[in-house]
Amino acid sequence: MTEQTVGLLLKNKLTHNDLVTLLNAQGELRKALFSKAAEIKKEYLGNKVYFRGLIEYSNICSKNCYYCGVRRGNHKVERYQLADIEVLDAARFALDNHFASIVIQSGERSDQKFVDTIEKLLLKIKAMSNGRLGITLSLGEQSEQTYERWFKAGAHRYLLRIETSDRDLYSKLHPNDSIHDFDARIESLNSLRKVGYQVGSGVMIGLPFQSPESLANDLLFLKKIDIDMAGMGPFIEHKETPLYRYAGELLSRQERFELSLKMVALLRILMKNINIAATTAMQTIDPQGREKSIMVGSNVIMPNLTPLKYRENYKLYEDKPCIDEEAEQCRSCLEARIHIAGNEIGWDEWGDSKHFMQRTTNPNN
Ligand code: 5AD
Ligand code: SF4
Ligand code: FES
Repeated sequence: MTEQTVGLLLKNKLTHNDLVTLLNAQGELRKALFSKAAEIKKEYLGNKVYFRGLIEYSNICSKNCYYCGVRRGNHKVERYQLADIEVLDAARFALDNHFASIVIQSGERSDQKFVDTIEKLLLKIKAMSNGRLGITLSLGEQSEQTYERWFKAGAHRYLLRIETSDRDLYSKLHPNDSIHDFDARIESLNSLRKVGYQVGSGVMIGLPFQSPESLANDLLFLKKIDIDMAGMGPFIEHKETPLYRYAGELLSRQERFELSLKMVALLRILMKNINIAATTAMQTIDPQGREKSIMVGSNVIMPNLTPLKYRENYKLYEDKPCIDEEAEQCRSCLEARIHIAGNEIGWDEWGDSKHFMQRTTNPNN
């Protein structure tokens, strides 16, 4: 490795140019990037990985994102919403299996009925678990009042990906209307922080029209808005979506996977004590995708707890894994994968973002 490239990884502050160089890194520099990220994770967070049981609550969505398989315009999907009892059963499974936390994810709706239903559901889960289950929500853009109601009802973390920090690219991925507004999405991230959530965000990697320069900006954006948690993964084309027309022009799946690994490693270097998820989309491309992600900086994994009969209908992208595996199978499978990656599982621990703890207890923030 040349002096110059060694120097790059020793720098305190990586510039946009440095990030682009590292996103393109091959050979020795690539290896050095991954070992540096692994070192930082070990130093700041140890070798623990936390489980969040994923409950895909509903695929009913009022939005029409051009990349997503459950977009409103896809009439080939059968729509569903779990009954409360199904959610409670899944939550009970998480508790009994020492997961300590769940994530409730759904297509986006903001009608009063939906807001009320979620609030009641949160209260039921809290009561069932005696407050022992940590609850993360991933239910899209909502008003600050809604975020507040759900927070009061017991949710304490929220995931809302910005998808891309590039305004122009964002407008190519979404219809140009008021419910797909880039600024509104940023405003939602601000509201979540104001209400008191641990805030997670992230981007898709390998989108049509997306350059390494744009991905480097994404990393700087996530750092600037000071997220507590991140979820990032490769874009995977879905036949029943408008973006499928660019399928022939994308990076190869392997290249998208490689870029995703580098994004995880770089984010770990930039934001040493946040939580980063090893996402399912990583495993869609590489059978060992999630282990590889853990080895370069991820520390959270989301075993799927959605009842089997609904899984086929929650395909945001094609070739999603774990469509036929029961919760029990995903648990054992992931347990083995984490051990292979040389990590331990933080059973019965919430595994809150250390970054959040730090920013909320530091009087200078
Ligand atoms: N490929 C990869 N990720 C996708 N998502 C939606 N559609 C796709 C796709 N085709 C991701 C988005 C969204 C999250 C819930 O799923 O980033 O925020
Ligand atoms: Fe709906 Fe989310 Fe899919 Fe967009 S990405 S269409 S908001 S489920
Ligand atoms: Fe579901 Fe491996 S994680 S089967």
